[in-house]
Amino acid sequence: MNLVLVGAQWGDEGKGKVIDVLAAEADVLIRYQGGPNAGHTVIVEDEEFIFHTIPSGLLHPGKIGVIGNGVVIDPAALLEEIARLRARGIDVERALKISDQAHLIFPYHTRLDAAEEARRASATMLGGSATECGGGPIGTTGRGIGPCYVDKVARCGIRVADLMDDAAFREKLRRNVEEKNRVLRLLYGAPPVEFEAIASQYRAYRDALRPFVVNGVRFLHDLRQQGKRLLFEGAQGTLLDVDHGTYPYVTSSNATAGGACTGAGVPPTSIDRVIGVVKAYTTRVGEGPLPTEFPALLMEQIRTKGKEFGATTGRPRRCGWFDAVVARHAVWVNGCDAIAVTKLDVLDAMPAVQICVGYRDGAQPLDEFPSNTAQLGRCAPVYETLPGWQSDTSEIDRFDDLPAAAQRYLRRLEALLGVPICLISTGSKREQAFKVGPWSLSSTT
Ligand code: IMP
Repeated sequence: MNLVLVGAQWGDEGKGKVIDVLAAEADVLIRYQGGPNAGHTVIVEDEEFIFHTIPSGLLHPGKIGVIGNGVVIDPAALLEEIARLRARGIDVERALKISDQAHLIFPYHTRLDAAEEARRASATMLGGSATECGGGPIGTTGRGIGPCYVDKVARCGIRVADLMDDAAFREKLRRNVEEKNRVLRLLYGAPPVEFEAIASQYRAYRDALRPFVVNGVRFLHDLRQQGKRLLFEGAQGTLLDVDHGTYPYVTSSNATAGGACTGAGVPPTSIDRVIGVVKAYTTRVGEGPLPTEFPALLMEQIRTKGKEFGATTGRPRRCGWFDAVVARHAVWVNGCDAIAVTKLDVLDAMPAVQICVGYRDGAQPLDEFPSNTAQLGRCAPVYETLPGWQSDTSEIDRFDDLPAAAQRYLRRLEALLGVPICLISTGSKREQAFKVGPWSLSSTT
């Protein structure tokens, strides 16, 4: 069985942890979009690993990891990650493959990312209403993700296959550097980047990356023919998807399940199941509406207990109650067969828990997710309040052993989303997760 795992909120749902648990049953782990903006945290035997570009199931011995064509690669960041895995004794040359169609991030992309964010910030200060109109800063991770995807769509991006072809690479890079320097100078008043410095740095990257490069479509086709079980790891989350998220406060790729096909080069018929991952509450980093955002005191309490700080940037995450309108939108877009719920333990101390079951835009009730982000920003959540369980769930490993109030909360989430829960995580360690119901990646149906 081949499975896609996606974030069903604004990213940081704990996908790294869930993937690490599921990876035990998979043969091949595939990243299909995003890049080093992602930070998937896995904790094994008290040691913490944060994966940015490499599939996060690779800590399991004997697995193969693939970085698909839909991913944008910063070679420096990737090589650093490779070195960390190697130091842990993983035979990375055997375990990791990179699609030759993946696009590369260059220093001008990160510089453009920062310059555009600064321009948006100053437009907000001058214009006042820029934020409401989507003209304010996005709050990007600053990793050059957006500008790299812009080049991909504008058909001037440079791919891994280009890097492997020295003459073609220099020619493409020269053209891009000239153009980006014009933009940096004229539009942003920012310093230029230097062609020769980048060319020689990337020549070194080419040699280091060459052993990993494959034709991704062929590679995955062959593995599917051999009956290998594929696990596609979505990065970010549905509400950060460039089409289905809170546009423009989104990332620049398709973080939804559909992205797995285009971003890995596999047909839709090769996907058997989709699992959405949600936190037991909601978080988001960066700008944009978050209807269920907590008031300051509760925010501090949950942020501290849930260690809600970005794995890539260290930024504090904004936290709020579980938003069933958001999660149901994600279930529909992705076609989730089931959901995994993480960080249930973070709510352990709450005397009562709230679930957003709809919105109100002034007097108008809304029960579906609005496409107009400004409208979402105006919406007030409509809450259902349930009793809290006020007991420790972090050692529990069976649904039936959870406190009755926690079971009721989870059953209510299932009813609101219309899909069953298949896994619950109650802590950051690998052991602090248990399956609910009789499904497995090994089954053929
Ligand atoms: P970018 O992907 O760096 O362009 O950032 C665009 C938006 O997506 C910002 O709000 C980021 O905070 C958010 N974002 C990007 N990657 C992640 C992630 O892995 N987790 C959570 N938010 C993310």
